[in-house]
Amino acid sequence: MKRQLFAAISALAGAVAARPAAVGAATACDRATLVSISDSYVAAQAAGQLETLKGVDANTVYTQNFKTATLASGLLSQSFKIDHNRSTHDTTQCATYTELRMGRQHTQLTPNQPPQSSPMPRTPHVVATQIRLSPNSTAPTISKIETIVTSTGDWLFNAPATLRYASQESWGEIPEAQRDARDVIQAAADAYLDLFNDKSIKVPWGSPCARLEGGSYVQPRCDVGVPSGVRQTNRRYVVDEVTGAVDVFFDFAGADPDSHEFRVEGGKLRYVHTLTVMH
Ligand SMILES: *[C@@H]1O[C@H](CO)[C@@H](O)[C@H](O)[C@H]1NC(C)=O
Ligand SMILES: *[C@@H]1O[C@H](CO)[C@@H](O)[C@H](O)[C@H]1NC(C)=O
Repeated sequence: MKRQLFAAISALAGAVAARPAAVGAATACDRATLVSISDSYVAAQAAGQLETLKGVDANTVYTQNFKTATLASGLLSQSFKIDHNRSTHDTTQCATYTELRMGRQHTQLTPNQPPQSSPMPRTPHVVATQIRLSPNSTAPTISKIETIVTSTGDWLFNAPATLRYASQESWGEIPEAQRDARDVIQAAADAYLDLFNDKSIKVPWGSPCARLEGGSYVQPRCDVGVPSGVRQTNRRYVVDEVTGAVDVFFDFAGADPDSHEFRVEGGKLRYVHTLTVMH
């Protein structure tokens, strides 16, 4: 009885808490607006032009591999050939997530500049970016951009392999009647990340399930090779019910910048993509 009452109160609290976000959603957080933001982010990265990215202002906080950085001199200031881009959209939290694989810079900053003066290594990159918008503004306003950029030397990094494996997967929209609730999607991600520290956790493994870990592909099971005694802390989520996707930024073992993205189908893990910065 007490339990039921608690559940009812939690549900009620959830409904009330969700309300202000829903009001905000009518303006800055609807899906179409979020899609326009992630599209403009990908276009800005391709062009190497920050001005192309909508919604940035003087208050936009920017981090690169979880360190405070400057947008104007960071990754977005360089043009790359984008080999792959895929974005998800969280209308409740007013946030987007984008996964990019991109090749060598195809323009130098100036024609006379030697390549080694470029601020990032001239290798391919696999990039994960979470963008958060301010839910109250009438015009889309980006409050925070966090980018994880992996390159040669990072955990199992292999950009061509990443591209090859990811292109075989299907992360498209899930028919409305089959979509999971956002708490189910997030719980699947949390169970996976909690398993690193607690082997008694029940993870909703899908069958089949495939894990793209850097450029290494593990399938048809994902319940293999998960280390023990590792705490995954400081988690930030982007949840998209339409594609069953959740991306989590966190500190791997409390230290290394990490992105784990999950595709959940029917409450179970179908795909896992991981990026871990090692330097
Ligand atoms: C991003 O991906 C979409 C297809 O999903 C493609 O149409 C678009 O051209 C890509 N953008 C860039 C800059 O490559
Ligand atoms: C958004 O608007 C609500 C209601 O007007 C206000 O309570 C809240 O503090 C605002 N949030 C931000 C981040 O400005």
